[in-house]
Amino acid sequence: MDDSLPLVDTLVRPLRDLRISVTDRCNFRCTYCMPAEIFGDRYQFLPRAQILSFEEVERVARAAVALGATKLRITGGEPLLRADLPLLVGKLAAIGGVDDLALTTNAYLLPRHAQALRDAGLHRLTISLDSLDPAVFRAMNGVGLTIESVLQGVEAAEKAGFNSLKFNCVVQRGVNEHTLADLARHFRGTGHVVRFIEFMDVGTLNGWDLAQVVPAAEILERIGSELPLEPVDPNYTGEVARRYRYTDGSGEVGIIASVTQPFCGDCTRARLSAEGELVTCLFASGGRDLKTPLRAGLSDAELRDLIRGVWHERTDRYSELRTSETAARDPRDRIEMYRIGG
Ligand code: GTP
Ligand code: 5AD
Ligand code: SF4
Ligand code: SF4
Repeated sequence: MDDSLPLVDTLVRPLRDLRISVTDRCNFRCTYCMPAEIFGDRYQFLPRAQILSFEEVERVARAAVALGATKLRITGGEPLLRADLPLLVGKLAAIGGVDDLALTTNAYLLPRHAQALRDAGLHRLTISLDSLDPAVFRAMNGVGLTIESVLQGVEAAEKAGFNSLKFNCVVQRGVNEHTLADLARHFRGTGHVVRFIEFMDVGTLNGWDLAQVVPAAEILERIGSELPLEPVDPNYTGEVARRYRYTDGSGEVGIIASVTQPFCGDCTRARLSAEGELVTCLFASGGRDLKTPLRAGLSDAELRDLIRGVWHERTDRYSELRTSETAARDPRDRIEMYRIGG
């Protein structure tokens, strides 16, 4: 492989984003991600020694940035459960060439941590929020938490200076589709952007069925019939969400249609699991172990070569190939969402 050439995979996609999971634990049990009946009190999460240290994460991030990545996103599980997270934020913010440093959270612990994250150099926050309806929210988070706990997190984020938040709402037929317009309405005019995500067949535990997917066209209709919308051009090539703005100028929403309008053609995302696997697709069955070589003392140049090799061979385009058969009967043991953070 000629390392003077720009790095692209087999479908000529560059490496632009690294999404870093810092823990496999979560304080929620969203029914579509970590169903409470499976992830109970006795569930064995990763022991500390198997999780990458902040120094190890920083080395991988620096290598990815040297290979072309400009966006970093910290995820989990729930990343705010990782002790001293602002220390990692500070290390990542200090890497030259990182244009965008974001974090995805369920917001519950933001009152405690938002200011420290901001002070450490975090640029943006994305908050998972599936409904403002108290009963629907309680049922979807799986642990009976109230909507107020999330709204307090939102307030803390705003106070700390995160002024353009994104909200991720996973839409499931028969569960929350009747509450979408209310969620959009609540954040209209605030400068925040709600993105509605088609329920995906990630992992093996959420009992996914095509019948539970509310297609983007219907999501758009449900919101647009109450709050008129018009399409807007993407902010950048490969943007996952399709953008729509309110015709009265009061803001915008996004729709992430990974099932009905897949976007693999522009997918520039690599994921690093908490235990140090480099994963090149949300629907992969696993990834390349970086932890063992990191702990065996490989050099920065060798680390870059390893990542370059993985990306160079990448062929992933799962969502473009998905059919209801592959989704229901994929023989591979797909990696779970909470291990790679969406
Ligand atoms: P911005 O940088 O704010 O534009 O973020 P983003 O569009 O990358 O959004 P975010 O990281 O919040 O991802 C939102 C959701 O989109 C995730 O939780 C996933 O459900 C879905 N998603 C993100 N990336 C991919 C991907 O590569 N493939 C698929 N199938 N879904 C994705
Ligand atoms: N389908 C779509 N999005 C999902 N997320 C988790 N599981 C799924 C799924 N099955 C999203 C959540 C959260 C992010 C981490 O991943 O909205 O914001
Ligand atoms: Fe936790 Fe996020 Fe999964 Fe919900 S979607 S269980 S908040 S990791
Ligand atoms: Fe990228 Fe895989 Fe998602 Fe396609 S399915 S957009 S290749 S992560």
